[in-house]
Amino acid sequence: MTDNSFNPAVDEWYYPDEKYRENANAPDYDKIYAQAAKDIEAFWGERAKSLDWFAPWERVLDRSNAPFFKWFVGGKINIAYNALDRHVKTWRRNKVALIWEGEPGEKESLTYWRLHQEVNKFANVLRSMGVKKGDRITIYMGRIPEIIIAMLSCAKVGAVHSVIYGGFSEQAIADRIEDANSRLLITCDGAWLRGQVVPLKETVDKAISKSPIVETVIVVKRTGQPVSMEQGRDYWYHDLMGLPIASPRFESVEMDAEDPLFILYTSGTTGKPKGILHTHGGYAVFTSTTLSWVFDLKDDDRWWCAADPGWITGHSYIVYAPLILGATSFMYEGAPNFPYPNRWWKMVEDHGISVLYTAPTAIRGLMRFGEAWPNRHDLSSLRLLGSVGEPINPEAWRWYFRVVGKEHAPIMDTWWQTETGGFMITPLPHVALKPGSATRPFPGIEIDIVDEEGNSVPPGTDGNLVIKQPWPGMLRTIYGDADRFVRQYWSQYAKQGWYLTGDSARRDKDGYVWIIGRNDDVIKVSGYRLGTAEVESGLVSHPAVAEAAAVGVPDEVRGNVIYAYCILKAGYQPSEALVNELKDHIRQQIGPIAVPTKLELVTSLPKTRSGKIMRRVIRARAMGMPEGDTTTLEE
Ligand code: WT7
Repeated sequence: MTDNSFNPAVDEWYYPDEKYRENANAPDYDKIYAQAAKDIEAFWGERAKSLDWFAPWERVLDRSNAPFFKWFVGGKINIAYNALDRHVKTWRRNKVALIWEGEPGEKESLTYWRLHQEVNKFANVLRSMGVKKGDRITIYMGRIPEIIIAMLSCAKVGAVHSVIYGGFSEQAIADRIEDANSRLLITCDGAWLRGQVVPLKETVDKAISKSPIVETVIVVKRTGQPVSMEQGRDYWYHDLMGLPIASPRFESVEMDAEDPLFILYTSGTTGKPKGILHTHGGYAVFTSTTLSWVFDLKDDDRWWCAADPGWITGHSYIVYAPLILGATSFMYEGAPNFPYPNRWWKMVEDHGISVLYTAPTAIRGLMRFGEAWPNRHDLSSLRLLGSVGEPINPEAWRWYFRVVGKEHAPIMDTWWQTETGGFMITPLPHVALKPGSATRPFPGIEIDIVDEEGNSVPPGTDGNLVIKQPWPGMLRTIYGDADRFVRQYWSQYAKQGWYLTGDSARRDKDGYVWIIGRNDDVIKVSGYRLGTAEVESGLVSHPAVAEAAAVGVPDEVRGNVIYAYCILKAGYQPSEALVNELKDHIRQQIGPIAVPTKLELVTSLPKTRSGKIMRRVIRARAMGMPEGDTTTLEE
């Protein structure tokens, strides 16, 4: 629902220096795109050879049960083996895998050897607790190295992780635990954010009291404040890692290429989040290929994906792909402007970051503090930049390019989704750029922009963004709800067999793609994906609320913010105190990211004659815009 109020600057070109073509991991775009399009199986089969397989695949792609596509059928692999085990057999064992900085300022670095040992130890702990192939494990942690260790350990033992972003609250956690039927949960006592402790364990305790499926909780000590530990259920991570059972040797479990690796919940058009399911084989091939080609990672790079491991960006491009490639990553625990607005730029300088990948909302947020903050630091180590999460407005693009990249670092504006696993529409470092456009599809990806019937729309016209061919990193299903998977993504263009992204987009005369935003009831708030229905059901779960409507309204820094309108039940009086109580309720139920910026108590909502709330009209009113066609309005 991002408002495309800016005019795509379709004739503003940026040409990267020729050096980005020399020695590039990616071949020439036009050539490889055409070659891949001719035979996607040959293309992806070739890419898969860069991984270590326990047994080769018999077929690259099985389309027989579409849309339940299968990739690398018959192949045996473990993604964690590719991320760790294979590297410790080479010189890379002594290479730094992860540099980490805590918000209070601690610094730590882990070599591939060390990370491999920690993961093996924890994999042994998990196994000793009875974790088996296919078990679902919930992870709810801050941005500390142990979250990466926990995820990789799950992969090693063949368990399926379900990471819940640390910004979610008790009800969101309880719902996800229940949906995944997850009996083991890994968390930490707390996380540092803006100098404050976010009490994660306390939230977990509340969530578990609602959803008693969880039998075991493993707690990493991070912030050190007292937490309650329930005997027989809760264990300290450091205690378990000190047991003799926690041996640093562990054979990665042989997985089928199509075995599930993780579930990651994301918002859709209903109140119930969707458990997006990804697998070991295709996901490993897709994330590592896209990272290698788009950000051209080399052994001397220091890669910083400034996302959270709790989102797909972190899964793919903090945890799995960089390790598969044997890269050095940086991860930071806390807030970008703590204690001062130069924190990020200081860390770029301190750690010699060479590639920075972040979201437009973060850029706009830091832009607000002015140029003096980045200008105090030597940012000359940066050679490539990236953007993800929502359309980047040309103004923010230009600032990022000029002030951060010093007019030489190209910006890779990567369009993709939780569902796609990795980059889908993106430049390569040697591709000419236009600020605000994600340029063209990655090799092997076929897209189109079409009308409701599926006809391609002409350049300059908005349409539905669809993906016309399967790709290895695609979601395989919605966990426990295959019908919803088919309905949601594959039914509108069932005849053609295309994947519906839910985004609207247009192409310009040069064939460059401009993403406009979601055209369903999903809102991007500070790059976070939220469903209006989730916020609404959160609001009506409060005893005072009879009906609620939530809409996304454009915001200069956050992309969109939420406005919500509630009708009270009889007997409740509107008041400032009640408004605050409702906001608090959402913070408790879903999390701070879902709290409406504006919450109004009203006596009626615009509805169709059949009783459907007209969000389009509410949104137009909220923005002070014309209401459009209101002939079906009953009010
Ligand atoms: C939605 C997916 C992909 C990782 C983070 C978000 C929007 C994402 C871009 C971009 C314009 C973008 C789309 C998409 N989006 N990247 N570069 N330009 N829009 O994953 O939470 O699953 O959200 O984010 O609307 O559908 P997600």
